Amino acid sequence: MTNFTIPIAGVIGNPISQSRSPQLFRHWLKTYNKVGFYIPLHVTEANLENVIRVLPKMGFIGCNVTAPHKVDVLQIADLATDRATLIGAANTLIFRKDGKIHADNTDGYGFIANLKQGAPEWAPSIGPVAVFGAGGAARAVIASLIDIGVQKIYLSNRTRPKAEALKSSFGTKITVVDWVQSGNMLEDSATVVNTTSLGMVGKPEFRVPLDGLQRGTVVTDLVYSPLKTRFLTEAEAAGCIVVDGLGMLLHQAVPGFERWFGIRPDVDVDTRTAVLV
Ligand code: ATR
Repeated sequence: MTNFTIPIAGVIGNPISQSRSPQLFRHWLKTYNKVGFYIPLHVTEANLENVIRVLPKMGFIGCNVTAPHKVDVLQIADLATDRATLIGAANTLIFRKDGKIHADNTDGYGFIANLKQGAPEWAPSIGPVAVFGAGGAARAVIASLIDIGVQKIYLSNRTRPKAEALKSSFGTKITVVDWVQSGNMLEDSATVVNTTSLGMVGKPEFRVPLDGLQRGTVVTDLVYSPLKTRFLTEAEAAGCIVVDGLGMLLHQAVPGFERWFGIRPDVDVDTRTAVLV
């Protein structure tokens, strides 16, 4: 007899078939020759709490969380990291041995790690950052930018009160710019981030005029389907350094994989290829 247990983790969402995380974890488990499973879990809002409470009893050691549950899981968890609380959402749940459910948010970590990998010369001191959008993804991005030491963030959102609400949470480093004037943020920005869903397959195009973009500006899009959005294509044509959004998805999964399967995985070309097939 042995009390060795096979680690099981997964990702919870509704829908879940679009999630690339199972492919990603399968690739890493194989690459690092680890025993374990990572399972896509389609869970409705009505069943969310019941499922989360029962998973540890079934041998799960944790799970990732995707739309639309990232905000709700924070209420269900027994404990949360400061960054998850500040962001108001969690993407990683850790089922502790003492039975407590611990919530974390690694989206901001994934955002910064991707930026640094795609633009190695990027540093918080290079200048102001312009952020388009004020949804859940923007909250994670802004929290990570402030945490790493960015001093000035221009923020523009179609629904201005949501940008104002972010300024209330994150403070005076944020300057809110009206959506109709959002192109004006670009001239003074060393980094530009699209956190809206504009430009995603099936969604409207990102149509903010980009003439203000300066050569050498680091431009990144959280949209990764398509991989090269029109926003990135135009930025590249303007001489900017562009970083696509797929890497954020890959890097945000690193802390979970390390915790659950015991090795910190690399995000390399093979990793990208594995989730694109
Ligand atoms: P996520 O968690 O991915 O950030 P979200 O919270 O639904 O998703 O936020 C989506 C973002 O895309 C918001 O900033 C949203 O703007 P509003 O707050 O005005 O809704 C932005 N967005 C979505 N469709 C848009 C559109 N057609 N024009 C401008 N912004 C849009």
